[in-house]
Amino acid sequence: MKALVLSGGRGTRLRPITHTSAKQLVPIANKPILFYALEAIRNAGITDIGIIVGDTRGEIEAAVGDGSPWDAKVTYIPQEAPLGLAHAVKIAEPFLNREPFVMFLGDNLIRDGIARLVKEFGESKANSQILLAHVRNPQDFGVAELDGDRVLRLQEKPQNPKSDLALVGVYMFDPCVFEAVNAITPSARGELEITDAIQYLIEHNYDVRYQIISGWWKDTGKLEDMLEANRLALDGLEPSIMGEVDADSRIYGRVTIDAGAKIVNSVVRGPAIIGSGCLIQNAYVGPYTSIYNEVKLLNSEIEHSIVLENSSIIDIGSRIEDSLIGKNVVVSRDNKMPKAYRFMLGDHSEVSVL
Ligand code: TTP
Repeated sequence: MKALVLSGGRGTRLRPITHTSAKQLVPIANKPILFYALEAIRNAGITDIGIIVGDTRGEIEAAVGDGSPWDAKVTYIPQEAPLGLAHAVKIAEPFLNREPFVMFLGDNLIRDGIARLVKEFGESKANSQILLAHVRNPQDFGVAELDGDRVLRLQEKPQNPKSDLALVGVYMFDPCVFEAVNAITPSARGELEITDAIQYLIEHNYDVRYQIISGWWKDTGKLEDMLEANRLALDGLEPSIMGEVDADSRIYGRVTIDAGAKIVNSVVRGPAIIGSGCLIQNAYVGPYTSIYNEVKLLNSEIEHSIVLENSSIIDIGSRIEDSLIGKNVVVSRDNKMPKAYRFMLGDHSEVSVL
């Protein structure tokens, strides 16, 4: 069995972060999202992994390398443009080489991993196995309509969903899928849709099975989902204080502070994680916050947020919440006259001021 991880795409819903970086490398609880997928695949016993890459290929390759940290062999498969999930399968045919495979969307997180699902698919004679999860907003997902133990129909983001069962971003296929991805045509949004490929399999009497997962699953395509994934991941955090915490600081609850981080006259209320080289001074870090390496948080408060490496937050009078702050960002108070907001914001940035 092989694995195909999709790490191309446009990431339009996560701009401006995705103008400069791959969304699959945004750290959730200080670990890139993509690494959770690679761990899940390795824990399912799969070591031959193809990764679909697009414009952010360099960055993904720099982070994942040859796959040896996961005891895996990684092959990069460039996709000329984000032409759809089924297009990614199509171009991976030479790599997949007629073996069954699990396809994993590189921006998805599944709490319980995929070992059991992969084992069951391996033992079944099914042509495909999809994963489903109950969701509150099925109109935002690919939705399955079931009839007993059969999948009757799949619809991409339907206006009137026939169920609340969304397609999770992990799919298993045998080589029959190539017949499907070569037969379907692009959808209205110009992509080869994986839902259409699976629908093709169903209509041509291939054996498509489903499983409903119970543990949490998150597709991190949007900011709110990213923050929720961070919250869920931090809920499982193993506390560990390796950095320096001075006598005037207080640490409450499940908190990880990496070696080389300094907490001075501050309060950190977990679950929260603070990366190496950070300086947290006269500050408050509230629950569900992940602060990546080399960040300065001075005279400021932050909660329920993700801060990427090497950013500085200085002298901010009000608490920052529900935020995703990119790399090398500076957010600071300015006492120059005249008193005014002064911004340098990239395209598609979002700022809410008090
Ligand atoms: P999506 O989140 O569906 O698409 P996207 O990344 O282009 O984002 P947006 O809708 O915000 O513009 O993609 C799911 C995963 O699959 C993600 O990791 C990117 C990857 N992907 C590819 O590798 N190739 C593709 O052609 C597409 C559409 C997605």
